[in-house]
Amino acid sequence: MKKLLVILLFTGLIAGCYYDNEEALYPVLDQACDTTGVAFAKSILPILQTNCLGCHGTNQAAASGSGIDLGTFSSLKQVAVSGRLFGAIVQDANHFPMPRGGFKLDTCSITKIKIWIDKGALNN
Ligand code: HEC
Repeated sequence: MKKLLVILLFTGLIAGCYYDNEEALYPVLDQACDTTGVAFAKSILPILQTNCLGCHGTNQAAASGSGIDLGTFSSLKQVAVSGRLFGAIVQDANHFPMPRGGFKLDTCSITKIKIWIDKGALNN
């Protein structure tokens, strides 16, 4: 019985330590952030569709997105150039952290959104 406990404990320790280093496991993913030619349709819209429009889509915003419509370009652009979009996704102290109730966006997505905003948040 004691032996079994020791074996279980040991296996637990190994399993616990092995899988928690994301950088070591996915080095290629981290380096694969392609920021050449960042454009709205190609780079930004897919991120919003996956992470934001479920609540902030034009038809969802009133009920689930606090009235903030990110599905209509003109409205999205306003939120973007005002700094609210970026503040929310980097989760700074002055904004509600987004996506609400979910994981922070990955660094690559945040970088692309920053580039797009810095270039004037164009509908390109
Ligand atoms: C589960 C629903 C939900 C999701 C998903 C979501 N939001 Fe929100 N968002 C809200 C709600 C509700 C608010 C109002 C503040 C609050 O209650 O957290 C809000 C507020 C905001 C604000 C205003 C923040 C401020 O402090 O000015 C911005 C900008 C925003 N969301 C952008 C986003 C972006 C970008 C995403 C995707 C990365 C996203 N949201 C995902 C529901 C959501």
